[in-house]
Order: sequence, then C-alpha cells, then structure tokens
Amino acid sequence: MAGAKSFSCFAVIAAALLLVLLNVAVLSHGGKTSTFIRKVERTEDMPLHSDVFLAPSGYNAPQQVHITLGDHVGRAMIVSWVTMDEPGKSIVYYWREECPHKKEVAKGNHVTYRFFNYSSGFIHHCTLRDLEFNKMYYYEIGIGHTRRQFWFVTPPEMHPDAPYTFGLIGDLGQTFDSNKTLAHYESNPQKGQAVLFVGDLSYADDHPNHDNVRWDTWGRFVERSTAYQPWIWATGNHELDYAPELGETEPFKPFRHRYHAPYQASGSTEPFWYSVKIASAHIIVLASYSAYGKYTPQYEWLEAELTKVDRSKTPWLIVLVHSPWYNSYNYHYMEGESMRVMFEPWFVKYKVDVVFAGHVHAYERSERISNIEYNIINGRCGPSKDLSAPVYITIGDGGNIEGLATNMTNPQPEYSAYREASFGHAIFEIKNRTHAHYSWHRNEDDYATIADSMWFFNRYWHPADDSTTK
Ligand SMILES: *[C@@H]1O[C@H](CO)[C@@H](O)[C@H](O)[C@H]1NC(C)=O
Ligand SMILES: *[C@@H]1O[C@H](CO)[C@@H](O)[C@H](O)[C@H]1NC(C)=O
Ligand SMILES: *[C@@H]1O[C@H](CO)[C@@H](O)[C@H](O)[C@H]1NC(C)=O
Ligand SMILES: *[C@@H]1O[C@H](CO)[C@@H](O)[C@H](O)[C@H]1NC(C)=O
Ligand SMILES: [Fe+2]
Repeated sequence: MAGAKSFSCFAVIAAALLLVLLNVAVLSHGGKTSTFIRKVERTEDMPLHSDVFLAPSGYNAPQQVHITLGDHVGRAMIVSWVTMDEPGKSIVYYWREECPHKKEVAKGNHVTYRFFNYSSGFIHHCTLRDLEFNKMYYYEIGIGHTRRQFWFVTPPEMHPDAPYTFGLIGDLGQTFDSNKTLAHYESNPQKGQAVLFVGDLSYADDHPNHDNVRWDTWGRFVERSTAYQPWIWATGNHELDYAPELGETEPFKPFRHRYHAPYQASGSTEPFWYSVKIASAHIIVLASYSAYGKYTPQYEWLEAELTKVDRSKTPWLIVLVHSPWYNSYNYHYMEGESMRVMFEPWFVKYKVDVVFAGHVHAYERSERISNIEYNIINGRCGPSKDLSAPVYITIGDGGNIEGLATNMTNPQPEYSAYREASFGHAIFEIKNRTHAHYSWHRNEDDYATIADSMWFFNRYWHPADDSTTK
C-alpha cells in the first residue's frame, strides 16, 4: 500500500514538474502582452465646432488640402482640395524653394458627388509632374479667389541605400484620441517624411445616413499633415459606404471622389490596389474589400507586380492592407484569413519585409512566420517560424469612434511578439539597404518615447534572424 501511495505521489510531482518545464518552454519563446494600463475613456468624435474642423476664412477658400504621390517613382504629386462656394479654378502654382520667381502652373479638374441627401463641394485634383527629387516645393491653390500656400519635399532619387522615414497610421477617425495620434506623429522627433495609411479614414459611416459632412470635417482635421507630406492611402471597410437602405449602392463612392492614387502608373485598373516606389522602398497597397480570388483584376495585378520588384534597386518590400492576416485579438479574428490563403505563398517566395495592416483597433507585432504548408489533407495548419516571411504589424490604433479592441485570445500565440491595446502610431525608418529601425509610440507617452521597437534586417540583403524574442 505504502509503495503504491508513494509511487502515485511521485507521479503527481513528476507531472507537475513536467508542466512547469513545459510552461517555461512555451513562455521562453513566446511574445509579450504589454501590462501597460491605459485609462479607459469613451471615444467620441470631436464636435463639429472644434478648432480642428474650422474652415479657412475667405470666399471659396480651398480646404481639405491633401497630397499623395502622382507617379510610380516619386517625381509627381497629386494635389487635392475642396472649394465650397463655386468651382473656382483647378489650378496649382508651384515653384522650387530656391526659385521663387520661376512659378510653374498645372491644371487639373474638379468633380462633385451626391450621397443620399448630401451634396459635396467641388473636389479638385491636380497632378504636378516632372518634379525634381529631394527638393522643397511651395504650392499655391485657390487661384481667382482666396489663395492659400503650402509646401512639400519630394522623395530622394531611388537608390538602394537611400534613407527614408515613413509614418504609419491606421483607423484614424476624428475623435479626441485621433487628434492625439496625429499630434504625436507630428511631434515625434523621428520626423516621418510620408505616411503609409492602412485604411479607415473618417468613419463618416458611423453617423446617421453616413453623414458625409464628416468626410469634410476629417479632411479639414488632417490637413495640417496631409497638405505638407504625401499620405499613401489604402482602403478599409469604412471607405465602402455601401448603403442600399439609402439608395447608395456604389461601393467607395465618397472615397473614390475625394482621394486619388497613381494606380495607372503601376498598371492597376482601380485606385484600391497599386504600388509606388519611394527612395529605397517598393510599397504595394492591397485592397481587402475588392475581389482578390484567382482570375480577378487584383490577383492578376499582384502576380505580375511581384515579378517587377527589383530588390537591387528598391531593397525594401512593404505591403499595406487593411484587414490583418495575423491577429490575436478576438476582434475581427480571422477576417483576413481568405486573403492570407490566396497570397501568403507569394509573400514568402518574394521575401516581403513587412506587412502593415489596420482594422483591429489595437497594436500587435508578429514574429517572422508563415503558414503555407496546408493542403487539405496533410493537417499542417499551424504557423511556424520562417525567415523568408514578413513581419506582420497591426497598427489600427489611430483612435476612432469605435474605441479600442481590448479582448485578446489567450494564451498569446507564440508567433505574436508584442501586443497592446493602446492608441498610437509607428515609424519605419530605413537606414540603408540592410537595416531599418521600427518603433511604435503610444499616445499616453511623451513624444520621444518608444513603447515597442525592432531592428529590421532586409530580407534580400541581410536575411539574418531579426526576431526580438529568440
Ligand atoms: C438629410 O436627412 C436627414 C434625415 O432626414 C436630416 O436630418 C438632414 O438634415 C438632411 N440633410 C440635408 C443636407 O438635407
Ligand atoms: C487637437 O490637437 C491640436 C494639436 O495638439 C490642438 O491644437 C487642438 O486644440 C486639438 N483640438 C481638439 C478639439 O482636441
Ligand atoms: C472576449 O472574447 C471571448 C471569445 O470570443 C468571449 O467569450 C468573451 O465574452 C469576450 N470578453 C469580453 C469582455 O468581451
Ligand atoms: C546600415 O545601417 C546600420 C544601422 O544604422 C549600420 O549599423 C550599418 O553599418 C549600415 N550599413 C552600411 C553598409 O553602412
Ligand atoms: Fe476597419
């Protein structure tokens, strides 16, 4: 009896020991769920009379000014703005900083649209071409009535070691938190030169009848950044504005009229998927809410596009998409799965460096992992470490009206390197062909504080293990 008892006692202790060992093993290469405690406040849109929404004074003054790249290589810029009183002129005067007397003129055009009972202002788009690389340009719009002047700096000439700093913002909206995110991005001493925006702009569709006045207020709110540096747009579900109950059945109607992209320059047939090259980066924008199955225009475009990427010229291959493929929050769990199934093998084959997504209103960074072995019958359905795979980053924490996603799956999957439910933005700072420094900044901290970071090693030039939790 005594012998049997001590044996079972031993078995219990051994089992407990084994459990402890297993636990340690799991934790030692698992990621980190931040313990940062954020004060939970109600996120609400800033009221219509807020300072950030004020229209500029003067008859027919241009408002909602924003710029984006206008070609495939960084030598053109699309300038867009809205006039409210009358069409006015779609003309831009522009000149190099050092040649104020040599003003050039570009002519664009304007569009208008209706959405339910809303009528838009006059939305102007004008492309400035043949710009010189790495130069400061001033530009003036509102010709004929109230003129306003802005400036931008063109990207440097493409070169494999050209440094460049991108800001990353997603799911911004127009709440007090959104305003903090933008202020933190602007005041970050790491100074982003262009924004990669991962979708969900205004959240106008969260207002009755998708009140498109909230598209206008959003445009005025972000002008303090979008007029001075290019924002590269990806579309999210809040750009769909699909509302058959209002008689509005044309997806993306407000977005398509307001925000342009140089999609034709990369051979795309829609403004929702396209590519641009900036400095040493090739950026591919994908559309979660446009068809991407085999034989669709987006599928065929991406298949051809990936063969055109030349890592000897643009070492950094960056993808933007709204709905994340790897996301360990319960919110929007697995919504990106069907697109992952379609495209992940290509991302591994072409060694994409990083994929930025939004949609989930929180922050998360993954290890380099892939999940491409599964073939229905072999049962290999879990992600595993893969140094040819991208890092997946969810940066949907801009601070919109829908609030934070705080509910995570537990335990934290091993592939998840860091996750935290706080609002913020990120910076991707390319140093040269081998190294880029990435940092995430939460709104609660000082402008210079880094809450999560990683040195990226380029997958083509320096494909060493760059995991932060190995
Ligand atoms: C549109 O309709 C809504 C609801 O009927 C109304 O509250 C709003 O004032 C209308 N807006 C315009 C511009 O007519
Ligand atoms: C938004 O942020 C800016 C910059 O910090 C500030 O000047 C402005 O007062 C803020 N507006 C609101 C409504 O919070
Ligand atoms: C979190 O998600 C789980 C799984 O979906 C669900 O069972 C649980 O109720 C959620 N908790 C909260 C607080 O929403
Ligand atoms: C690339 O940048 C990294 C980080 O700044 C630096 O350590 C490395 O020496 C640079 N490589 C070259 C070839 O200059
Ligand atoms: Fe979204």
